[in-house]
Amino acid sequence: MSRLDDRVAIVTGASRGVGSTIAKTLVAAGAKVILTDILVEEGEKVTAELGEAASFAALDVTSEEDWSRVVDEAVAAHGRVDILVNNAAILHLGTLENTPPEIFRRILEVNTVGPYLGTRAVLETMKAQEVGSIVHVASIDGLVGMNGVSAYSASKFGLRGLAKSSALELGRSGIRVNSVCPAGGNTDMYGPWFEKLTAIKDETQAYNNNRGIPGNVSYEAIAQAVLYLASDASGGVTGIDLPVDGGATAGKFMLGFNSM
Ligand SMILES: NC(=O)c1ccc[n+]([C@@H]2O[C@H](COP(=O)([O-])OP(=O)(O)OC[C@H]3O[C@@H](n4cnc5c(N)ncnc54)[C@H](O)[C@@H]3O)[C@@H](O)[C@H]2O)c1
Repeated sequence: MSRLDDRVAIVTGASRGVGSTIAKTLVAAGAKVILTDILVEEGEKVTAELGEAASFAALDVTSEEDWSRVVDEAVAAHGRVDILVNNAAILHLGTLENTPPEIFRRILEVNTVGPYLGTRAVLETMKAQEVGSIVHVASIDGLVGMNGVSAYSASKFGLRGLAKSSALELGRSGIRVNSVCPAGGNTDMYGPWFEKLTAIKDETQAYNNNRGIPGNVSYEAIAQAVLYLASDASGGVTGIDLPVDGGATAGKFMLGFNSM
């Protein structure tokens, strides 16, 4: 059973979308959760709704100083850090020509370097405890390539590589590291491209439906996968990619073949 009683968790990008549902799910499983984000007002509002087991800390995942402060505060308040969920990320939609180097670098900085900094920040504490679970939220775009998402896809492939190498390096210290790879999340992430995406609505719907279980997966389904990897229910599981994608990466799908 996926219980987290008395465990202490840090969740990044927890002010909205998938991250806030992950925080809520971990609290419901018994954990003390530190929600973090650069969106402070939204984060404090979400945190207030989760009761005494939740607290909020401003954290930009690209800042070593922020990481150091948040981990120090977590240890001061709770004496330990058992779980780190690296969920914060940003998206860029654009062909290679429309992905300038500064944007490519920024996507890697937030989506890959951020989780690396977070992993380093909790290492001393988790090693001293001889227990810890680090869960990265990657994407199906980190499992298979897709046109128009080169920067994001590169960042999520990189994140999975970080997870696997860290898992091998840290297993003997009692620390497990895994990735969850969802298909879908918060449409707020697509904000700047909303009009362009609306113009190709039929194509995006067909893309989302062309899988074993049609449509995007729910925030809850993603959060339950994170809970499983965060908890002792997944003891012995390390270095894996857990797709939560309705079968999108399982193979090719033809609706007509279901009636042959
Ligand atoms: N939205 C999707 O369709 C989709 C699909 C697959 C995977 N994912 C992944 O799911 C995770 C959650 O995304 P979401 O769908 O909830 O989108 P979202 O945009 O609602 O959430 C991302 C959160 O990260 C925060 N964030 C951004 N930059 C940050 C920084 N530098 N430091 C700290 N926080 C920062 C944002 O403020 C936001 O609260 C991400 O890792 C994303 O890549 C999303």
